[in-house]
Amino acid sequence: MTDFLDLDLTAPERLRAILAEAARRKAARQAAGATGKALPDADAPLAGFVLALLFQRPSTRTRISFDIAMRQLGGACLDLGGKQLQMQRGESVADTGRVLERYVDAIVFRSDDHSGLQTLADSTSIPVINGLSGRSHPCQVMADILTFEEHKGDIGGRTLAWVGDGGNNMAASWIHAAAAFGFRLRFGCPPPFAPDEALLAAARRNGARIECCASAREAAAGSDCVMTDTWVSMSDSPESAAERRRLLAPYQINDGLMAHAPEAIFMHCLPAHRGEEATDSVLDGKASRIFDEAENRLHVQKAILLHCMDRLGL
Ligand code: CP
Ligand code: NVA
Repeated sequence: MTDFLDLDLTAPERLRAILAEAARRKAARQAAGATGKALPDADAPLAGFVLALLFQRPSTRTRISFDIAMRQLGGACLDLGGKQLQMQRGESVADTGRVLERYVDAIVFRSDDHSGLQTLADSTSIPVINGLSGRSHPCQVMADILTFEEHKGDIGGRTLAWVGDGGNNMAASWIHAAAAFGFRLRFGCPPPFAPDEALLAAARRNGARIECCASAREAAAGSDCVMTDTWVSMSDSPESAAERRRLLAPYQINDGLMAHAPEAIFMHCLPAHRGEEATDSVLDGKASRIFDEAENRLHVQKAILLHCMDRLGL
């Protein structure tokens, strides 16, 4: 049994095994012509297991894809919301975890802050999965790597550009992934939203090739993939929103920028703020893979669950 908290905490060969399992299960369902979206996979490997979904922030993709993933693996899901629990009245995260582990087999947690996620993981013996924290979003980046490889082949040695807010949770998980998967990562971000220096240094020590460019155009030019995310993340203060939008406006992904990366696909974890970080023409354009990313959340969540429950490759 193991947690899935951050990509730099899981061995690269296990991350590769997770992607292979996701691709295998996706292909098997397609080959079987699985129509009912919640119908179990033929082997139902998590029959009898229960996954709790504990979300302190809103979620469409993460919550629903884990729920359906668990059903397809033959198990059950318990959506705890964030507001119905006694945590809302001050019961600690640690005590909540100690109680939950008496009822369920694993927990997906979207925490208000990363320390809460760590506390939950430290206080329970069952697997805890990071369903997004202010620091990182590892499950999304795994789905994005599967999406990239479906369209462009092996990600090793390729060049991916991250444009916009380089200090957010998605950017951090891409930095972890650059070390694990051996691709080049180029950032195009205004200086106040550059990636954290300590995070970059740690990834470079692990072999990551990461470059911080002077402009969005320099980062995107000739890349295999251009990516961005919202300019105001859930963990950012509402008071900072106007200033963020002002400073990040020159980093919008539009047709002019994509013209510098004619072979690139475009990825965005969603939800998108159309007309801000990316235009409709890019989000809905021929390079866009945004809904494939959303679908792949489902396939990858299944493999992450099997990894955490020691059932990967059985
Ligand atoms: N991309 C993502 O995590 O979406 P949700 O916030 O809807 O889960
Ligand atoms: N960076 C975004 C990702 C949403 C899935 C946020 O944290 O709000």
